Amino acid sequence: MSETQTTYNYKVVRQFAVMTVIWGIVGMLVGVVIAAQLVWPELNFGPWLHFGRLRPLHTNAVIFAFGGSALFATSYYVVQRTSHARIFCDKLAAFTFWGWQLVILLAAVSLPLGFSTGKEYAELEWPIDLLIAVVWVSYAIVFFGTIAKRTVKHIYVANWFYGAFIIAIALLHIVNSAEIPVTLTKSYSAYAGVQDAMVQWWYGHNAVGFLLTAGFLGMMYYFIPKQAGRPVYSYRLSVVHFWALIFTYMWAGPHHLHYTALPDWTQSVGMIFSLILLAPSWGGMINGIMTLSGAWHKLRDDPILKFLITSLSFYGMSTFEGPMMSVKTVNALSHYTDWTVGHVHSGALGWVAMVSIGSIYYLLPRLFGKPEMYSVRLMTVHFWVATIGVVLYIASMWIAGVMQGLMWRAVNADGTLTYSFVEAVKGSYPFWTVRFIGGALFLVGMLIMAYNMFKTIASGKTVNDAPVLAPAAQHA
Ligand code: HEM
Ligand code: HEM
Repeated sequence: MSETQTTYNYKVVRQFAVMTVIWGIVGMLVGVVIAAQLVWPELNFGPWLHFGRLRPLHTNAVIFAFGGSALFATSYYVVQRTSHARIFCDKLAAFTFWGWQLVILLAAVSLPLGFSTGKEYAELEWPIDLLIAVVWVSYAIVFFGTIAKRTVKHIYVANWFYGAFIIAIALLHIVNSAEIPVTLTKSYSAYAGVQDAMVQWWYGHNAVGFLLTAGFLGMMYYFIPKQAGRPVYSYRLSVVHFWALIFTYMWAGPHHLHYTALPDWTQSVGMIFSLILLAPSWGGMINGIMTLSGAWHKLRDDPILKFLITSLSFYGMSTFEGPMMSVKTVNALSHYTDWTVGHVHSGALGWVAMVSIGSIYYLLPRLFGKPEMYSVRLMTVHFWVATIGVVLYIASMWIAGVMQGLMWRAVNADGTLTYSFVEAVKGSYPFWTVRFIGGALFLVGMLIMAYNMFKTIASGKTVNDAPVLAPAAQHA
């Protein structure tokens, strides 16, 4: 057998894994800066570093640079290990790494300069959109090419989730980014009015469903059983979970457009599908958590499991909260308030960031030829700092959000508003300060992780090609 058939490509996994930590720090630092700007408005400097420009920089950096790199790293690792095959086309895989870094750099320059399509989570202008499409199609070729050359018959369920995420993001990006270029840095959407809004939130919600959820569920299905040393609680449930989740997510987008010009029946369809979505989401969470059956004691001193299992608790919380917020009467209170921001971060920090951190901690020693991270103690410190940070962030946003909603709708006996808008802003300051502290703690956790990572790298030896040890007929 040639070497390409007997080794895994760890180089590209390592590159993405290291960049996950670095982009996590950058994206969260920008998050802390915009959180500070809301408390101290004098921190808005010039047009380039203004809240309006840094906010999309934050969302793009954390979702696509941090989350994206974590997904590339783990999917390339998982697909190779579970297929017992080296990655399909090393050069194309390397192109996805450098292409994705270029996309991130272009975003980091163009967003502060004010170039934006104005579509949330799809702000990047058309030349960058084209580059994203090319990188993403290459990613699909590498991923599915590896599945095609697998040496085991079975396709492990984690790959189903990664595969669905890759296909769905290609579809969403290409459809939602249809735009008419005017200059190199300006384009207009190909859709108009309410259709534009509908396409945008079909994209926006499924970006949550497939990028921020399905791909990370792929992580859950590989790294929890691996770290716990237990098989998945129910493989049958994982298959039901997969089909139910990907079918239902596609229809829930209109819950972002309640009480807008969107036809009323469309809003109701969005609400009903969001309520149904609770079932597959919780099915998946239960499957992940129950995988620990018989190994619960490992939670006590294994920080990787602590991250992974806690992330599932936040996943369960945010996927309970989401369906509730999609009920029109609840949304009438929560929409436009910080409640939404709290919901977003219980998913983004509690679920997405924590499951990524756990998985990257699992990967790093293996990628640098070490038995474990430089300091397991620091991983535990990271876990607690991060958990306290998330709790401060989301609890403060919930209170602020409900307070804002109630203040905005309060009326006096004569029908006039009880509070002016600015009074609600004033009332929010203490909560924004707590959110700033919570966010800063989460960032400190990431800095601890970076220190631990560089110490591990310094004492380790980079592994480029890892041997395929297990016999071809076995699972990874
Ligand atoms: C069953 C699952 C979920 C449902 C039904 C759901 C539902 C909702 C609803 C109703 C809103 C508020 C829309 C508005 O008033 O504007 C919302 C906002 C949001 N959710 Fe969820 N959610 C779910 C899970 C998640 C998860 C797991 C994440 C993150 C990982 C997430 C990320 C977001 C984001 C980013 C927004 C803000 C969108 C924006 O306005 O910019 N959601 N979600
Ligand atoms: C240190 C950690 C973080 C801090 C301090 C932070 C802070 C913030 C702030 C201040 C906003 C603007 C809220 C507003 O407009 O009122 C925001 C928005 C947002 N952040 Fe973060 N963030 C952090 C981490 C993350 C992570 C890891 C993700 C995703 C994986 C994320 C995703 C988002 C999204 C999607 C929005 C838009 C929310 C919406 O439109 O409702 N954040 N963040």
